Amino acid sequence: MTDRSRPDGGRDDHLPEGVVPRTIDGDQRLTTRGAPVYGEPTAGEWRAWDPGRSKLGALLGRGVETGFEGGDTVLYLGAASGTTVSHVADFSGPTYAVEFAPRPARDLVRVAEERPNLFPLLKDARRPETYAHVVESDVDVLFQDVATRGQGDVACRNRRFLADDGWLVATVKARSEDVTGPPEVTYEHVVETIEEEYEVVTTERMDPLHEDHLAVVARPR
Ligand SMILES: C[S@@+](CC[C@H](N)C(=O)[O-])C[C@H]1O[C@@H](n2cnc3c(N)ncnc32)[C@H](O)[C@@H]1O
Repeated sequence: MTDRSRPDGGRDDHLPEGVVPRTIDGDQRLTTRGAPVYGEPTAGEWRAWDPGRSKLGALLGRGVETGFEGGDTVLYLGAASGTTVSHVADFSGPTYAVEFAPRPARDLVRVAEERPNLFPLLKDARRPETYAHVVESDVDVLFQDVATRGQGDVACRNRRFLADDGWLVATVKARSEDVTGPPEVTYEHVVETIEEEYEVVTTERMDPLHEDHLAVVARPR
């Protein structure tokens, strides 16, 4: 069983091993150990994880059980320039980071230069067959933050990589599905699609830090 004890003697059972609450600049922050990426404050080797810039950071800060344990094999969809996935790679095993926009992917490659377990893939997450030869099957956690139309479908298409006892953590941006409709209705549709391949464990509205976003934590059926 994973020991999630903190150096200060406390316990945060939902936190992966390697994500540690620390006081930096007088504030209690979640931190990971690694090279800084986006100008975040540091204390020695530890870097603060900004929940305002990272939906996963915000979820862990709220105490949501995500399935990340530390040392996991991770497939991360929608890596952008690497803000969140850099933290994930700090506490995970092999971390495959898919991003289809060349510009942020260039920054992502630089982030990966300092993290030998981070593998950037300039690929479209809607077409998993284009990276199936690189990504191992049986990943422990599939994390998704793609902000595109068809977010439920992307989660279902990438189910093929996830171990049967793995976890999906998907953040759903309402406005990417429907610019004008009420977010609640959009969430319902996306969750219904996700339920074709997964059993939903938790949903969590991410307002106000991440407006009009819903997080969905689910297990494969
Ligand atoms: C909200 S940003 C991700 C932020 C990032 N996850 C973080 O926290 O550091 C969404 C990203 O998804 C990417 N994206 C959107 N559709 C995609 C697709 N079909 N395949 C791969 N990446 C996609 C966008 O280019 C954008 O960089």
